[in-house]
This record gives sequence, structure tokens and C-alpha cells, in this order.
Amino acid sequence: VDAKTSALIELHEAAGKLFHHVLVNTELGQPALAYLHERGLTDATIDAFNLGFAPQNRLLKRFFDERQVDYQTLRHSGLFIENQEGELRDRFVDRIMYPIRNEGGQTVAFSGRLLAKADDQPKYLNSPETDLFNKRKVLFNFDQARGAIRKVGDVILFEGFMDVMSATQAGVTNGVASMGTSLTEEQIYALSRVTQQLYVCYDGDVPGQKATDRALTNIREQSSLKLGVITMPEGLDPDEYRQKYGEEKLKAALLTARETPVAFSMRYLRSQYDVNTDAGRLDYIEAVLAILATMTSPVEQDVYLTQLANDYQLDKTSLKQQLAMVKPTVAPPKQQPARRQVEPPVVTQHR
Ligand code: CTP
Ligand code: MN
Ligand code: MN
Ligand code: MN
Ligand code: MN
Repeated sequence: VDAKTSALIELHEAAGKLFHHVLVNTELGQPALAYLHERGLTDATIDAFNLGFAPQNRLLKRFFDERQVDYQTLRHSGLFIENQEGELRDRFVDRIMYPIRNEGGQTVAFSGRLLAKADDQPKYLNSPETDLFNKRKVLFNFDQARGAIRKVGDVILFEGFMDVMSATQAGVTNGVASMGTSLTEEQIYALSRVTQQLYVCYDGDVPGQKATDRALTNIREQSSLKLGVITMPEGLDPDEYRQKYGEEKLKAALLTARETPVAFSMRYLRSQYDVNTDAGRLDYIEAVLAILATMTSPVEQDVYLTQLANDYQLDKTSLKQQLAMVKPTVAPPKQQPARRQVEPPVVTQHR
């Protein structure tokens, strides 16, 4: 590690300590600390994730100036915004600070959350790409979760910081977050190196479910990971579920509410078609059969055929006949029938 890199890491570690101190020990941090407590985070969790608060008074710049940190290091850290004259100002103002660490546990970036909604500002503001921080590679909490991932043999992939922290507080410590709904090839690769089983637990809302569908496709294409899906009910995200039902219920949901990717796809597809009309129902069944046709296990196929037959009071024999006619190839979207309401799913080999 060269001198520049270690200077940047040192800077981030110092900033993390300062933000944490402000949050837990000072008047300035009081509203933020109250907010986190209100959301049900314990002091142990706040400590374990080294959460902090960046106040409104150019604290960070003054702090580093007093310690005579050189200008170029500050400039390249991403923690400041530079104006036309080259002057630096704190990037994070009035935000709860979540340190983002690399695989080695070193703080390489921050994400800052507003306490209250504001129209003109994003809820989360992240460090920009720097020499330390490659967004495509980092997974939130990967450093702390790695031991648990190896021990339990699987990883749970969440969308957000609060979901990982909620799970951890509920005793489920093998969780990481993609920090949003787009999962990169680099992140998939990093996970595939430590485990063979991944559960996608994105938010239960519409964007989260859509992102789950996309993530399953990408993971299948880019790794040989075995997949499962965990979905919180009522459109909740895991943190909201904990707030509403408590830690024990969250833990139980994370450990037991696990679907196979095919079961998820059948459920997800159902929301994509108007199954109350004959045409929509037929399209839905066709889409499900296209997925089942890619399955290599006849027993597995049979399980879902039975479910499909039961769900729609269909004759299983005719479903089987129809399935035999479906070619397990990926049909390009343009050739799909015009009756479809939304873009058809990309069908790939299911495991
Ligand atoms: N995210 C982001 N920038 C945004 C919105 C979201 O980087 N403007 C990332 C964050 O990592 C966030 C994740 O995407 O944790 C999931 O987004 P969302 O579900 O909207 O936020 P929550 O994690 O539910 O955040 P909170 O519970 O604090 O509202
Ligand atoms: Mn502490
Ligand atoms: Mn979300
Ligand atoms: Mn969420
Ligand atoms: Mn949330």
C-alpha cells in the first residue's frame, strides 16, 4: 500500500471516529441519536457499525486543518466539495453517517442520510468514486459478515444499510447490502468467492421485487451461486418489518420465509399479468411454462406444475402436454405476443 492510499485511509478512519463522537457524545448529535433510537437501533448496533453524525458547521474541514492534513489528501478523499477557487467544504452536512468499509475492514467512503425528507436533496448522499472507493466492488458490511457467511454457508443480500443493521440486531449476521437495487458483476463475483448459496432479500415494494427479478437473472448469468428469495410481506423492507413486528419476527422471516427462484418468479409474474382475464391468464401460464421448460429436474417441474394446476383449476395432463411443446430457449422480446402487458421476463436456466 502506497503512502497516498494509507493517508486517505487514515483520513477516513479519523473522520469516522469524529462523526461517531459527535453522534454519541455531543449536543450536536442529539437529534440524530434520538432519530436512530426512535427507529429502534440500539447503542450496541450504533457502535458496531460506527454510525456518526456530520453537523452543519464545517466541522470536518476545521478538524483536518487543525491537524495540518495536506490539501491534496483532503481533495482526493471525496469528503469535500471543491469550488472554482479550489476551496474545500464539507460534502456531508447535517447527515447521519454510515461508514462504508472495504473487504479488509478499512473505511473507504461514507454514505450520509438526511434525518427528514427534503425535496431538494437526496435521502442518501454517497462519497464519489475515489482511489479508495470503487462503488461497483464494495458491498456494505461484507468485512463484518464474512465470518458468519462462511459459518452458516449462505449470504443474505439486502438493499440498504438499515436492513443489514436490522438483521444484525435480530441476530442474523450474514447480511450484506448492494446499497441500492442494482447489483454489479463485481459484487456477484466477490460473493461467489465466499459462499455457494445466496438469498436475495430486497424490499417488498414494487421496485424491490422488480430488482429481485433482475438480480436473479444477473446472478444466474454471472455465477454458479445457488439462489433463494426472501420477501417481507405487506411491501415492507426488512427494517420496516422489524420496526412493525420486532426482532424475533424478523429473524424468523429471514430464516424461514425462503422461496425457490421459481416460486418467486411464479409469484412475480402473477403481478405482471392480469390473471383475471382469460388472455392474461393464458399469457401468465405460458410464461410460467417457459420457465419450467428450462428446469432439468422432472420432480421439480412436477411440483410447480401441480401448483399451477391447483392455482388455476387446470388439468395437469394438458399442462404437461403444453409444457412438452415449449422450447426452453430464450425468446427475444419482439417475438412475444402483443397481448402481453409488460415486457416479458428473460428466461434463463433455473437452478
Ligand atoms: N440509496 C442510495 N441513494 C439514494 C437512495 C438509496 O444510495 N438516494 C441506497 C442506500 O444504500 C439505501 C438503499 O439504496 O440503503 C436502499 O434504498 P431505500 O430502500 O430507498 O432506502 P432504505 O435502505 O430503506 O433507507 P431508510 O430505511 O433509511 O429510509
Ligand atoms: Mn462508541
Ligand atoms: Mn428500496
Ligand atoms: Mn428500503
Ligand atoms: Mn428502509
